[in-house]
Formats: sequence, C-alpha cells, structure tokens
Amino acid sequence: MSGTLLAVERLNLAFVSAGQRVPVINNLTFSVAPGESLAVVGRSGSGKSTLLNLLCGLQTPDDGVIAIDNESFGNASDAVSIARWAELRRQLIGVVFQQANLMPALSLVDNVRLRTHLAGRHKQDERWWLQRLGVGDQADRYPDRVSGGQAQRAALAMVFAMSPSLILADEPTGSLDRHTADEVAESLFNVQVETGCALVLATHDSELAACCGRVLDLSAAG
Ligand SMILES: Nc1ncnc2c1ncn2[C@@H]1O[C@H](COP(=O)(O)OP(=O)(O)OP(=O)(O)O)[C@@H](O)[C@H]1O
Ligand SMILES: [Mg+2]
Repeated sequence: MSGTLLAVERLNLAFVSAGQRVPVINNLTFSVAPGESLAVVGRSGSGKSTLLNLLCGLQTPDDGVIAIDNESFGNASDAVSIARWAELRRQLIGVVFQQANLMPALSLVDNVRLRTHLAGRHKQDERWWLQRLGVGDQADRYPDRVSGGQAQRAALAMVFAMSPSLILADEPTGSLDRHTADEVAESLFNVQVETGCALVLATHDSELAACCGRVLDLSAAG
C-alpha cells in the first residue's frame, strides 16, 4: 500500500479553563502512511491524549481537518459526523489505553470475540490472536484473574483481531513494570509490522518512541 492513511492539516484545539482560553493543539500538520508507526511525545500536558482523542473523533477540533482513508472531518459535531466517527472506531481504528479496557463479565477470549463481532469480522480466530500476543493459556480466564501485563496483551489481541488500518495507543505500557512493558511493547511492534496496520503511539518513554518509524514532539510543535 502507498499514499496517506491519516492526514492532519492545521489542527487547532483550545480548552477554556477558569475563563481563560488555553491552546493545546496549535496548527498541527502531519500525515501517516499505511503501515507506518509514529510516536507522539511531549511533556505531561502537551496534548498527546487530546490529539489521540481528536484522531478517533472523541473530541472535535476548533478548526483544521483530519482525513482518514481520504474521508475528511472538520469541526462539525452533528449527528452524522459523530455516527461516522463511531463507524470508523468500530471498523477501522483500534484504540488502546494505558489500562486495558476489558469487559469484566467476559473471559479474555469472549472480550476478543465481542470486539471482532462489533467490527463485523465473524471469521476471526480469537484464540489464535490471544496466543499470538502471548496469553493463549489465559483465554478462558476473567480480567480480574490475570495480571496487568496479561490484560494489556488481551487488549492488544482485541484490536489486532478486528484487522484495523490504524491503531491509536495512549501510553499502552504506562501502567506496567519495565520488564513487562518491554515485553508487551515488543509484541505490539512485532504484530503491527506483521499485520501492516499503522500505529500512532503516545508515550513518555523515549525507548518506546525510538522503536517507531517517526517521532512527533508536541512540546516542540506549534
Ligand atoms: N476536557 C478538558 N477540559 C479542559 N482542559 C483539558 C481537558 N482535557 C485536557 N485538558 C488540558 O489539556 C492539556 C493537555 O492534556 P493531555 O491530557 O492531552 O496531555 P498529555 O500530553 O496526554 O499529558 P500526560 O503525559 O500527562 O498524559 C492539559 O493542560 C490538560 O489539563
Ligand atoms: Mg496523556
């Protein structure tokens, strides 16, 4: 594949705090090609999580354009735009957070099954994905019976199993100890390269950022 999967043009967002307008995303322009990995770095409060929220439509910019797979979104927050973003999150964009977002009432394999079902991918081998992420032996356990690292591997299995074009990961190893974080990150990068999906990874961790193809520093942007 070639071309651009994600194009961000002159994106701006300010929050209002105590009556003051606080700019967070300032005239940001960048793009991500299919299969590419981009680390978003910057000091705490520089807008990494805000940017990821904008990239999956959970927040609306003040102005600027986000184009995903050649479909453009501006600052409209009407029902049609919100529904379209929801459809993209269901089918095309996998989101991973610092803490694994698993349904407590479902086993790990049923969590993966839920995600593939939502994405309309009914022929996925959910156990295979858990195995690929290194937690195949935990497939029938419930989230409160596995470690943080195992839960995060299951969360990664969930997003990879939906065959996304783009994964947005916000500090996905931030709650893990160094050794576990390194192992989970290695799985993330291996499977990302193998599947050819693009990755935008927000992180404080310079070692993790160095594993990405490119780095966008929000402290320096704007
Ligand atoms: N809903 C909101 N309303 C007002 N201000 C907000 C809101 N969300 C974020 N902010 C502010 O926007 C700035 C950027 O926050 P954000 O969470 O994106 O930073 P971050 O780079 O992810 O930080 P960290 O590294 O600590 O996770 C911060 O100053 C934060 O206080
Ligand atoms: Mg953050």
